[in-house]
Amino acid sequence: MSVKDLLEKRRSVRHYDSNYIVSSETMATLIESASKSPNGNNIQATRYLVIDEPHLRDLLLPIAFNQQQVTDASVLIVILGDYHAFEKENIIKIHEEGFQEGFFDASLRDYLAGAAIDYYVNKSKEDLKIELTRDASLASMSLLLLANEAGLETITMSGYDSEQLRLALDISERYLDVMLIAIGKGIKNGHKTVRHDVNQVIYKNKIK
Ligand SMILES: Cc1cc2nc3c(=O)[nH]c(=O)nc-3n(C[C@H](O)[C@H](O)[C@H](O)COP(=O)(O)O)c2cc1C
Repeated sequence: MSVKDLLEKRRSVRHYDSNYIVSSETMATLIESASKSPNGNNIQATRYLVIDEPHLRDLLLPIAFNQQQVTDASVLIVILGDYHAFEKENIIKIHEEGFQEGFFDASLRDYLAGAAIDYYVNKSKEDLKIELTRDASLASMSLLLLANEAGLETITMSGYDSEQLRLALDISERYLDVMLIAIGKGIKNGHKTVRHDVNQVIYKNKIK
C-alpha cells in the first residue's frame, strides 16, 4: 500500500483482540525500520520500552486512565528520549562508526561530530526536551505506518500520568517519556475524524 493510502486509512484504534500475538521478532523488525527515521545530528536518542509483563500492563491501566488498549493490545511501548545521547562520547562514537563504515571521510566525521557537540552544548534542559520530543515523534509516526503496513492497528497516547508511569516502571531522570504506543489487531474500527481544509493550514511567508 502506498504511504498516501496508509495515511488515508489509518485511524486511532481503541479496541484490540487481547489474544492476538505480535512476536518480538516482528516488533524488532518494525522498530529497526522506524529507527531509520531522521533524527537530529543522528545522535539516535529514541528508546522503545516494550511492556510485555501482564502485571505491568495491569499496573499501567489506571495510570493511563483505564484506556483498555493498555492491557488489550498485543504490544505496548513507552517511547522515550535518552538525555545521555547528547553526551560528547555518544556523538563521537556514532560519527566514528559512520567513518569506519566508509560513509564519510575523516574530515567530514570530525566536522559533523564537532558541529553536533557545539549544537547541544549550551542548550537548556527544556531545549533538549524539545529535541528528544522531535526525534521520538518522527520515529513514532514511522512505527505507526510500518505497523499499519504489516496489517496491524495502532494508537498513540499521551493520556497517562507521567509521574506515576515513571514510578511504576522505575524510569530514571535519564529518560524523557514522550508517549505510549499500543499496537495490535483491532476488533472495532477507530471512528473517523475530520481534518481542516488544507487551505486553512497552509500559510505563505507570514502567519499571525
Ligand atoms: C500525542 C498524541 C496523544 C494521544 N493520546 C491519546 C490518548 O491518550 N487516548 C486516546 O484515546 N487517543 C489519543 N490520541 C489519539 C488522537 O485522539 C487521534 O489521533 C485524533 O483524534 C485523530 O484521530 P485519528 O488518529 O483516528 O485520525 C493521541 C494522539 C496523539 C498524536
